[in-house]
Amino acid sequence: MWVRLPENGYDKDSILKELEEVTKEDLNPLTGRMFGHSYETGDNILRELSMKVYEAFMHKTMLDFTVYPSLVKLENEIVSMVLSIMHGEENSTGSFTYGGTESIMLATKAAREYFRKRKGEGVIPELILPMTGHPSFVKAAEYLNMKVKFAPVDYKTLKIDVDKVNELINDRTAMIVGSAPNYPFGTVDDIAALSDIAVDKKVWLHTDSCIGGFVLPFFKMLGEKIPDFDFKLPGVYSISADLHKYGYAPKGASVVLYRSKELKLGQIFVGTRWPGYPLVNTAVLSTRSAGSLAASWAILKYLGVKGYKDMASRILSAKRKTILGLKEMRFQILGEPESSLVAFTSDEVNLSKLSSIIGKKGWYIQVQPGSDYLKFPSSIHLTLSPVHDELAKDFLADLKEALEEAKKMEESDQLKANILRMIRDMEPNKIIEELPRLLEYVGVSSEKVPKDLELVDELIKSLAPDLVEAMLKHVINEILSP
Ligand SMILES: Cc1ncc(COP(=O)(O)O)c(C=O)c1O
Repeated sequence: MWVRLPENGYDKDSILKELEEVTKEDLNPLTGRMFGHSYETGDNILRELSMKVYEAFMHKTMLDFTVYPSLVKLENEIVSMVLSIMHGEENSTGSFTYGGTESIMLATKAAREYFRKRKGEGVIPELILPMTGHPSFVKAAEYLNMKVKFAPVDYKTLKIDVDKVNELINDRTAMIVGSAPNYPFGTVDDIAALSDIAVDKKVWLHTDSCIGGFVLPFFKMLGEKIPDFDFKLPGVYSISADLHKYGYAPKGASVVLYRSKELKLGQIFVGTRWPGYPLVNTAVLSTRSAGSLAASWAILKYLGVKGYKDMASRILSAKRKTILGLKEMRFQILGEPESSLVAFTSDEVNLSKLSSIIGKKGWYIQVQPGSDYLKFPSSIHLTLSPVHDELAKDFLADLKEALEEAKKMEESDQLKANILRMIRDMEPNKIIEELPRLLEYVGVSSEKVPKDLELVDELIKSLAPDLVEAMLKHVINEILSP
């Protein structure tokens, strides 16, 4: 439905009231009841500081480094503070970006330029990604005209198969990626072994530490067994680490780091072939608010090593309690996650059902549908935050109730089962043709996200990824159209 631009503007109070109404069904990320998309410390001073600093800088742009000298200083200080926990070297450098995807896009571009400089422009450069690696690398490859080769993982340890990486490398390899950790299971790839290969074959190794960058170094300081993953390893050329995750900064904050200045050159864009100002960008975006940059700087200064260690210690305690509770409920933990993420599966209940039942009790847990094609089971992903140390007991009690409820509920209803069977038997083209009817059935319409995702999750698990991707493009196009 179209909303027309109002002829006359509304007054402030009525706008705020409307927003209150609109957000009624939203989850509140500050409650700590979310185990995904939220990284809650429970520290009110941190929150206040972050909001105050954000507000003070939100109208300044990072577009032009000659305009606001403070922004150059803040960015350099952020980069160096993060380098100081990643074994950066004298000549190491990096950039502040608006998120993990942007950091990854830039590192991939820098690796492509580095490859082209040595090998010329005649071939499509390749990127080797663990099957558990973040899809933003596939997106980067799509944008940058590169080809992704997926490296298998060991299904038990859920870590990259290093020997297979060795086999996949050839003259066209521009980058290999290891995750520290991967998002789905929280396990850390053997980056040291990847580094040996990278040094031996002279290829660029990127450590994706978007979600682990502000956890693993502090877990290590607390005595946890964390494998090396940063610039301590000579093959690691670049690292991504997100401030808007366990850096506890507001959304829109990450860093990409490089072992040396030479490596960073390829990410920089300069455009002067126009009559306007010289466009000099170190990031994908050009005009962007400096709010999240300044807030990130303030939070790094506020927490310091001690503050991040305290947060990490609360996460570790939450992790121990949660894993114990999950095992008591006979859930199976997938792999042995070294990080702050835990994934579990079950052969007793439907996990989509479990998630929607516990959702009604005010908790958010994230369903990972899995894939028959890729041979991953469906699972529940938990991103653990410091506040979960205090909330673990309540969460586990509610999960236990939800589990009993889910067990009592019948298997998915007959109609759903029939639809699923029918779709599985259909030709891919036919599925896309029938999509409007299918979407209507699962409750997708303009602006409307279906509440019951059980069928959608089943489809994602049982259909080929190509088809799932094509279907989901239609789905989001439907939902995000007025
Ligand atoms: C391992 C990993 N890499 C990359 C990303 C992408 O980060 P963003 O969502 O900030 O773009 C994520 C996000 O969860 C992640 O967990």
